[in-house]
Amino acid sequence: MSDRVDIDALLGRMTLQEKIGQLSVLADSIRPFAFDVNPDSFQWGPQRTRELIQAGEVGALFNGVGAAEGRELQRIAVEESRLGIPLLLGADVIHGMRTVFPIPLGEAASFEPELARRTARAAAVEATREGLHWTFAPVVDVARDQRWGRVAETTGEDTYLASQFAAARVRGFQGEDLTANDSLLATLKHFAAYGAVSAGLDYNTVDLSPQTLHDVHLPPFKAAIDAGALTVMSSFNDINGVPATANRDLLTGILREQWGFEGFVVSDYTSDFELIAHGYAADEKHAAQLSLNAGLDMSMQSGVFMDHLATLVAEGAVSLQTLDAAVRRILDVKARMGMFDNPYRSLVVPPEGPAPYLAEHDALARDAARRSVVMLKNASDVLPLRKSGQRIALIGPFARDRENLAGCWNIFGDSTREIDLETGLRAALDDPDSLTVVEGCEIEDAIEGGIEAAVAAARDAEAVLLAVGEPTRFTGEAQSRTQIVLPAAQQALVEAVIATGTPVIVLLRNGRALALSLALQAADAILVTWFLGSQTGHALADLVFGDHSPSGRLPISFPHESGQQPYYYNHPSSGRPYQPGGFEAFRTRWRETANTALYPFGHGLTYTRFEYGEVELSAPQLEWDETLAVRARIANVGTRGGEEVVQLYVHDRVASRVRPLRELKGFEKIALAPGESRIVEFRLSRHDLQFRGVDNRPIAEPGLFDLWLAPSATTGDPVSFELRPAASGAG
Ligand code: GLC
Repeated sequence: MSDRVDIDALLGRMTLQEKIGQLSVLADSIRPFAFDVNPDSFQWGPQRTRELIQAGEVGALFNGVGAAEGRELQRIAVEESRLGIPLLLGADVIHGMRTVFPIPLGEAASFEPELARRTARAAAVEATREGLHWTFAPVVDVARDQRWGRVAETTGEDTYLASQFAAARVRGFQGEDLTANDSLLATLKHFAAYGAVSAGLDYNTVDLSPQTLHDVHLPPFKAAIDAGALTVMSSFNDINGVPATANRDLLTGILREQWGFEGFVVSDYTSDFELIAHGYAADEKHAAQLSLNAGLDMSMQSGVFMDHLATLVAEGAVSLQTLDAAVRRILDVKARMGMFDNPYRSLVVPPEGPAPYLAEHDALARDAARRSVVMLKNASDVLPLRKSGQRIALIGPFARDRENLAGCWNIFGDSTREIDLETGLRAALDDPDSLTVVEGCEIEDAIEGGIEAAVAAARDAEAVLLAVGEPTRFTGEAQSRTQIVLPAAQQALVEAVIATGTPVIVLLRNGRALALSLALQAADAILVTWFLGSQTGHALADLVFGDHSPSGRLPISFPHESGQQPYYYNHPSSGRPYQPGGFEAFRTRWRETANTALYPFGHGLTYTRFEYGEVELSAPQLEWDETLAVRARIANVGTRGGEEVVQLYVHDRVASRVRPLRELKGFEKIALAPGESRIVEFRLSRHDLQFRGVDNRPIAEPGLFDLWLAPSATTGDPVSFELRPAASGAG
């Protein structure tokens, strides 16, 4: 905890203008990079920004990079302003800085939070080496609608998985010691329920029950705050008609009063100004008043705090106490980061030449990429391929593409270190020239003669690696899609190559679940490869040629059709559930498809086979204040080593609100050699069975539950147990 007496004393010496200055973060119009990301955002410009720093009237800048220039900005703030309050320098370091790791959705497929902690730590080391203190990550939103482009930045559709990864990423970014030179302050975004935008349409209204807000969307934020996060970013969307950025119940009621959050809340990019467009604020001044009074502490880029807070305080529309509270939170975070004692922390100009950790980070990026890939299908064990003596054709617009390796929100990636698919595959082959490469089409357009050339290459090959999918520009912010399918030109290529009859392995490039066409489904093997970052080519070669086995599992459901969205595995039954093979009429299904996933949450294959033994419970009942042990023996019954993600699901059979058919409550990834087996054990308590009741209070209800230990959300045999009521008279 910082020395609050110092902060209170400092606060007592600050002018109103200096206080207001701490409450804004502006695009860094002085250092490089920010301009590339927000070219239209420089209403202040470099000179005015320097003047504001000198006057102590700006407390933070974002998306500029460079230790030397950053050190000079800090010198101005610390040595030339009246009170010398240090600047906070932030940026969007979402999945890597110079070394780019898989997009967060891809990394979530590893089901390895520890891996995410390690990649976040590496990103922090690289970011703080280049004059950054603060990242606007991790994205903690739960995303159930694959039409939404920002699902790429999330951990997917499951609350428990998102909670585990959010906490791990916070620990990775911030490290053990917030004052350390390489500690990168984390931001939890976007608070809250941004992943629930209606129709998967970015920025759209969010209309959901308080129970769904609390059961599905809030727990990952709470888990990350418990892991030590000190900043939260308010989201663009409204929640049931009240924009998050001015939502007092959210920013003050839940975040501070219920959760005891001690850090500060920063708006998303002009989201306070956007209260006007929402029809919630009459003008900028009203927007500033509503957002600050609701619990927003720092305004990003809009300037509404700078322009209107002095007047609002003078008019009594904003109390000085409220304003001081916001300033105090920001100063407190700067103090916890040791910035008053060491204002040049993370602004140490590195020696000339390459960073000393590049090889280590490349190895981590390659491992993270490998572990993020999900093998949906591998008919006749067509994979792995051989490195010699097999004619292989690499076909598709992503075969040698270098523009779509890193995925969305890659601002600072070092593209010179990126390994594309062709490069990685050739490097792995005994004879690099034995690989035939034909694009066949562009990402969205046909190529004259492209399909013919691709068909010829496929006919001449013994195996085709078909590199198709969506480009980076289809994913991320403001990239919602109504049809989550391949572009037509690629669909035509897929159909032509599949028709040749040569074994086809699809290497799917994607930032969301896609509705796989029948032609894609007909491929012999399908690898979901997301956007894997710097080491794409080497990681995929490691898997395709069997040096490593795929080990990822789906963090999102792959639907049959786009029209099923939003589709997620942990949905309730309905009164007329459709049972495959059961009575068809008047059942919960579409005309075109069943209400199921083509490939379910948690699904993923490896180059070996696993068998699950009987699930054993420590008792048939779970006593109210006890825990229940759940275990099973998992055996590798194949001929190769591999990793299995053992997933624990529960279902509450009868409750005062209808409950999901399954909910993930635990998972463990285990590596087993051929013939090896291991007992995997979980422990359940009634707290794992809690949900928000009709009065929105958290409750657990005695009764019968089903439980699975399974390799996906739709497999495994249930065992049941009973949650017993509290002993009479107990709390
Ligand atoms: C963007 C995004 C947010 C990002 C911020 C700063 O609009 O919504 O995730 O951190 O602006 O770039």
